[in-house]
This record gives sequence, C-alpha cells and structure tokens, in this order.
Amino acid sequence: MKKSKFTLDEANRFVETNKHKVNRKYRHHYHVMAPIGWINDPNGFVYFQDEYHLFFQYYPYDSQWGPMHWGHVKSKDLIHWEELPIALVPDQPYDKDGCFSGSAIEKDGKLYLMYTGHVEKENKTYQTQCIAISEDGIHFDKVAQNPVIDAKLLKGHGNIHDFRDPKVFQRENKYYSVVASKNELNHGQILLFESNDLISWSFTSILLEGDETQGIMWECPDLFYLDGKDVLIMSPIQIPKKGLSYHNVSSTVAFIGEVDWETGKFQVENYHEIDFGLDFYAPQTLEDDQHRRIMIAWMQMWHRTLPTHDLDHKWAGAMSLPRELRVKENRLVQKPISMVYTNLEYQYGFENVTVGQTPVYLRQVVHDNTYVHLVADLSQATSLDIQFAKNIHESLQLHYDVATEIFTLSREDVGYSITGTEKDVLVQRQVHVPLVNQQLVLEIFRDTSSIELFINALETMTMTFYEIEAGNDIVFSSEGNATISSIEIGQVR
Ligand code: FRU
Repeated sequence: MKKSKFTLDEANRFVETNKHKVNRKYRHHYHVMAPIGWINDPNGFVYFQDEYHLFFQYYPYDSQWGPMHWGHVKSKDLIHWEELPIALVPDQPYDKDGCFSGSAIEKDGKLYLMYTGHVEKENKTYQTQCIAISEDGIHFDKVAQNPVIDAKLLKGHGNIHDFRDPKVFQRENKYYSVVASKNELNHGQILLFESNDLISWSFTSILLEGDETQGIMWECPDLFYLDGKDVLIMSPIQIPKKGLSYHNVSSTVAFIGEVDWETGKFQVENYHEIDFGLDFYAPQTLEDDQHRRIMIAWMQMWHRTLPTHDLDHKWAGAMSLPRELRVKENRLVQKPISMVYTNLEYQYGFENVTVGQTPVYLRQVVHDNTYVHLVADLSQATSLDIQFAKNIHESLQLHYDVATEIFTLSREDVGYSITGTEKDVLVQRQVHVPLVNQQLVLEIFRDTSSIELFINALETMTMTFYEIEAGNDIVFSSEGNATISSIEIGQVR
C-alpha cells in the first residue's frame, strides 16, 4: 500500500537508515542526486548566507514519483554538495498530497520558501500557494496564514486545478510571484501576484498567455532581468514539434522580451527551446553575490522508463550542471559554471592531429567524470564523427554535418534502452549550430550516467545514458580531413 501519512522525523530517519541500500553503479560524482529515492524539479534555488541552497521535489520512499517532499542540499561552489535534512513534508490539510515545486527568497535575514500545496479530492486536484519560514536555513515552519494564494485571489483567471510552481522575487520595494496555470482553452498562462510582506498577496495580471502551438499547460516559470532584457523561462507540456525543437513530451523554453510593469504584461520579442537533449526539464535560476544568473535543471524527462528504477537501484533522477546565463542576440546562452574549471584535473592532451578515413583512437581516456575540451577545424571536412565512452558494443554517437550545420547526439548504441510516451522512441536529438571560423568547439561534461555538451558556446545538449559495461575510449573519424586543433581531457574532482 502507498504511504499516505508523512512526518519530517520519519522521513529523515528513513533516509538515514536506508541510504546505504542504493546501488552505486550509475551514481554521479558532482551532480546533485537524492541519497535514496526519487527526485524531480529543482526548487528554492537561492544564495543564502554565503552558500548556495538547493531544494528539490523528493519522494524518499521509492524510486518513483510519490507525494512530494522537499529535499535539501547546500554548497559553497555548486560542485561539492552537502546533504541536509528534508525541509518540507506533506503534513497539512492544504498540502496533504504534496509540497509541489516553488522557490526561495531571503527577507530580514530569514529564508522564505514559497511552494504549491497540492490536494486531491474526489479525483480532482486543487493547488494553492504556501509559505514556510526558516531562521537557520535548515528547519522550516509553515505559516498559520497558509495557503497565502488560493482560489479567491484568482478572480476567475487561471485554473485552480493546475495552478502551481510559484517563483518569488523582489523588484524595487515589492515582492512578486509568477505562478503557472492554464486558461479554458488549455493554453498555458503565467499569472503575476504581488505582496509587501510575502504573506498577504493580491492578483496583479496575466503576465503571458500561450496559444495552441505553445503547449497545454506551462510549468515552473522563472522571471528575471539579464543583459538589458526580461527573460521568462518555463516548461510547457506537449508543445508540438517544430523543426529540430520541442521533440520531448515536455520542453523548456526561454521567452525574451520586456515586461511592462504598468500593465503587468510580457511583450515577447523571441522564444526558443533552452536545451536540445533528451533529459532537461523544469530549470530554475538564482542570482548570487557576484550577480551571476545561474540556472540548474532536473536532468530527466517525464514519462520515460528509468533504468535505475527498473533495475531496483533505489534512486532516480539528478540535477544538471549549474550554468551561468547570458542574453546574446535575443537568445539565452549558457556556459558551465566557472567553479567547475577550478575543480578540473587535466590528464591528457594534444594538438594538430588530422583525422581522415582512418579513425583516430584515444584509448582508456574516458572515466566516470571525464571532461573534454575539443577544438576541431572542419574547413577541409564535410563531417566529423565522435564515438564517446566506447567499448566493444557500446558508445554514445556525436556527429557534426558541415553542410547543414547540424549537430547530432545519440544514445541509440549505448546501454539500457529508454522508452517514453513520445510517438517515436527518442534515441537522439539534433541542434543547429554554425561553426565559428570553421571550427567546432565542444565541451563535454560526462558524469557517470549523464553527458552535457556545450557546443560553440551557443547551444547545449543534456542526456542521460546507462551503459551496460564501462566504455573508456574515444574514436574520431571524418569525411574529408578534419583537424583536431587541440584536445584536453581531464576529470572533475
Ligand atoms: C514539473 C512538475 C511541477 C510540479 C512538480 C510535481 O516537473 O510537474 O509542475 O509542481 O513537478 O512534482
């Protein structure tokens, strides 16, 4: 029988006494995971008292989604994480079926969490927004005024059955929260609320409303100002495929434009998918003490089979590498968080090697936490192929086609097969990225069961894979003559 009553003490005790039971084969080195059980969205990502805090949607008792708790970790460098006690459990009438996603903000030296109380009644869900406060950043008290935003405040907008994922922020002397919902046509909607004290809220406006090409519900909004633009990121469900974009059942999208704070409306200038892999969802950002805008995402996708669950490894889900954001030419671009480089140990490298019909083999260079920085000159080539983490039977396949400027990442030939609710089984994705001075500049971050590609500092692809046997080689081949101008290989420690 599924558990239905939850307490903090019991949840924390369960984790402590059972975490040694997880199978470590696919466990990461520097990506956030739960000690045991299931995780999804990053929540409450915040810089508080000189440390980065990250909460996450958490069900400790199974490697499948269940009534949501908030797990909690913190870090000084976004690479080394310390496990903390669970922060929230669904133990109140207004959140009894789940403490759903939300965000965090500091006020008067205290940490406030704003999250969605999820309740199921007679086969319907009801969602409201709630607050919990902490003095020490570890122990949280839910406030007596909860829920602080409920159906009454909606004033006929949005939909109380799909009304979730508040992202709270301060602007001038006011607090605002963007909350995801949908309208009666099943188009996504982002609602804006305001408050002077984070407890008493009022409806401001419908910030943005989607159309039938933009998904049936929007999740996990985040609104921030960066490089002279307002950026609204969110995660639409079932946004229809368009060219190479939106192939996963749910996608992550950045809307770039300007908020008119008089009317509370977002004027969209451009929007695009944020990551072109198979496993990237529900990103959330923070601004740190150095005014960096940093994003982290759930490195997984809804409605897919999960090898660590199917193989009874007792855990599922991880977070992406944190990435620093910038806006360039009305697009959101990501670069790896700079602290990852200070934790890199370089082991191997060379310059100016030509790859032709005869493949170039690099043996025994790929480990669990390998980093590769590659610069390839493709002026004399029509394509470049890289088999990564290769053993006799398996490898990830990376391919760049010079004529179409399309980069492909495929997990078809590696590990356990993963299927999902998408119409076709997705084993690969593609992205359009032009060369820069006829060069392909690729950064590869591999952790045990994930790969994150940063391509020409323009696009990213994030994917999980679960190899059956360890693959340690890299093999390059090309049509025409590609030159590896430089390659450096190291490990993140
Ligand atoms: C997004 C999401 C959120 C919700 C949470 C529940 O992945 O569906 O909209 O709050 O997960 O775990």
